[in-house]
Amino acid sequence: MKEYNIAVLSGDGIGPEVTAEAIKVLNKVGEKYDVKFNCKEYIAGGIAIDKTGNPLPDETLNACVNADSVLLGAVGGPKWDKAGGPRPEQALLGLRKGMEVYTNIRPAHVFKELQAASPLKDEILKRGVDLVIIRELTGGIYFGKSGLAEDGQSAFDTEEYSVPEIRRVIERGFDFAKKRRKKLTLVNKANIMETSRLWRKLFFEMAEDHPDIEVNELYVDNASMQLVMNPSQFDVIVTSNMFGDILSDEASMITGSIGMLPSASLGDSSNGLYEPIHGTAPDIAGLDIANPMATILSVAMMLRYSFDMADAADDIERAVGETLAEGYRTADIQNDDCKLVGTKKMGDIIAAKI
Ligand code: IPM
Ligand code: MG
Repeated sequence: MKEYNIAVLSGDGIGPEVTAEAIKVLNKVGEKYDVKFNCKEYIAGGIAIDKTGNPLPDETLNACVNADSVLLGAVGGPKWDKAGGPRPEQALLGLRKGMEVYTNIRPAHVFKELQAASPLKDEILKRGVDLVIIRELTGGIYFGKSGLAEDGQSAFDTEEYSVPEIRRVIERGFDFAKKRRKKLTLVNKANIMETSRLWRKLFFEMAEDHPDIEVNELYVDNASMQLVMNPSQFDVIVTSNMFGDILSDEASMITGSIGMLPSASLGDSSNGLYEPIHGTAPDIAGLDIANPMATILSVAMMLRYSFDMADAADDIERAVGETLAEGYRTADIQNDDCKLVGTKKMGDIIAAKI
């Protein structure tokens, strides 16, 4: 029997609740496909600050680096917002860098059943929205030299990208486009930024090796407008760290249900970091009302990208789709004639469909 070791970082707020449901579904997949998933919990984020003073203790990072895959709930909360103290989000940046997961994959998909939750008009949505943002994750301005002058009167951040850093992310973009609708859009600010011009040069050079993929580029300001005006035009978007951070939040809102969206962060090895894109929602923590679907769908991504179990991943996605079609909803996506259920019940229903 195949065995995989999964490091689980439930984190803060609703993290532990949604993670528990995802593991419930994963265990069901294990039974069906005859695979053993050894899930072991480690601390990260606020809970780790409380216990050790460090948002990402060495033991946690080592376990994640050595695991076959990592599942993260969410980290952060107002409790750790005090100025000067360590921040839970540092755990995320440390994990990404430590695990060398340099590409972040964020699908934004409007589920037909949830179309009404989208802030966009039906006439814009009717052509369907199913896009993936591929964001560079361990370089650029979030990791460049930065500083605040001693007198506090100026500050700076720098964006620097090397050719290999750019190429490996763009390559992932082509990989994804190839398996999807064969369209890849580079988002940049090449009219202003030198780094963007390097991205553009490499992008169009690499495009020559992928004649089956339709390519185009958009400036980031235009792209942010196009995303709400005509999101159906996008298949795969590839972009730098900061642009991807901003655009992926915008794209998630188009779907109207941030509680539904998973993400994967991948590097060269099969080990990846999987997490819902939503945060810790401290206001509803512990109430058994959070939506576990994004974390459950993150497990589907884990099966697909870390364990090469595409059938099992499809199985989970189908189970989530059927659950929605039958009218089950958590509070964040409820409507008038739905069957309102809590976090655990939602996990039970989806697990039972595996
Ligand atoms: C995200 C988050 C993080 C980021 C923050 C919390 C560091 O916004 O995953 O998009 O900017 O990468
Ligand atoms: Mg973000």
